Amino acid sequence: MSITAQYIVQQLTQSKQAQIKTQGTAYAPVNIALIKYWGKRNSELNLPITDSLSVGLKTLGTHTSIALCDGQDHITLNGTLLAAEHPFSQRTSRYLDLFRTVPSMGFVVDTKNDVPTGAGLASSASGYAALVLALDDLFNWQLDKTQLSVLARIGSGSASRSLWDGFVHWHAGEQDDGMDSHAIPLTQTLPDLRIGLLTLSAKTKPVSSRSGMKQTVEGLSLYPAWKNMVDTHLTQMLPAIEQADIAQIGQIAEHNALAMHATMMSAYPALCYWLPETLATLQTIWAAREAGLACWATLDAGANVKLIFAQQAQSEVEALFPKVQIVQPFS
Ligand code: DP6
Repeated sequence: MSITAQYIVQQLTQSKQAQIKTQGTAYAPVNIALIKYWGKRNSELNLPITDSLSVGLKTLGTHTSIALCDGQDHITLNGTLLAAEHPFSQRTSRYLDLFRTVPSMGFVVDTKNDVPTGAGLASSASGYAALVLALDDLFNWQLDKTQLSVLARIGSGSASRSLWDGFVHWHAGEQDDGMDSHAIPLTQTLPDLRIGLLTLSAKTKPVSSRSGMKQTVEGLSLYPAWKNMVDTHLTQMLPAIEQADIAQIGQIAEHNALAMHATMMSAYPALCYWLPETLATLQTIWAAREAGLACWATLDAGANVKLIFAQQAQSEVEALFPKVQIVQPFS
C-alpha cells in the first residue's frame, strides 16, 4: 500500500494539537539550487531521485499570514484575492486539505512574493516553506525545522530547502515514507558570494517544473546519466564550499544547470525553457569569462538566468548587465 501525504501529515502533527492562535505569520527565503533537483521517485510525496544543494537569497522571499475561517478558502496573492478556480488557489487549497482537522475548516491566506510568481525564480519554494511555517505558527505545533522541511517538501520539493538561509543540502533519502528526505543546512558561510538575478521574462513559464520533470524522466531522455552527474557534482561542491572557492562553486553550478537543461532537451517530446534572450545572455557571460570576468550562470525551469560571482567582480557584472538585481546571501 502506498503511503499518502495525509498519513505523513497526521504522523507529524496529530499529537501536537495545542492552543490554536488567531493568526500565523512567517517569512521564508527563495533558494537557488546550485545542484538541481530534477526528477522524482514518488510524485505524491515529492521524493527526489537525487540530492540537491542550494543557497538561500535571505532578503528575497515570501511573507505569508494564515487564519481559520468557516467554509471556502480565501487566498490572496500579492494583494489580489484570487478566484477559487485560479490555479494558484487550487494548488494551495489542495495542499491545505492535508491540514483541515474538520471538513468545514477554511483558511484565509495572504501571501506576498518578492519575486515574480512562476517565472523560474523558485517562488514555489519560498511559498510552501512560508506556508508551512505559518501553519506551524497558527496551530502552534512547534515542529522542528527538519519536520517542517518534510511538510514543505510535500507542497513543493524545492521548498524543503527554503527553511534556512545559506547553503542547504536536501538529502534524497531512501525510505518509502520520505521521513529521511529533508534538507539540512551547511554551517559554512561565504560573505563574498553574490547572486545576480537577470529577469529576462516575468511571464509564468509554459510548462511547470512538476510536469517538466515528468516529461524528462519518462521521455526516453539522457536522464539516466543525470544521477551520476549529480553524484559527481555533489562530491566536488561540498569541498568547494568548505574552501570558499567561488570559482569552483560557479563552475560546478553552471555545469549542473546546463546538464539539467540538456536532459530536458533530450526528451521526446523535447522540453526547452530557454528564450533567444537566454542563450544570448549565456553567450555574453561566456565571452566575458574568456576576457577574464569570474562570473558563472545557473538556470532553473524557466528562461531567466542567475549569476554567481564574488563581490570583487560586482562592478564589472553591473557594467555588463545594468538591470541585474544583486543579492548578498550572507550579508
Ligand atoms: C529546476 O520544487 O518546483 O527549480 O516538487 O514538483 O513542486 P515540485 O517541483 P519544484 O522544482 C524545482 C526545480 C528546479 C531545480 C531546483 O530548485 O532544485
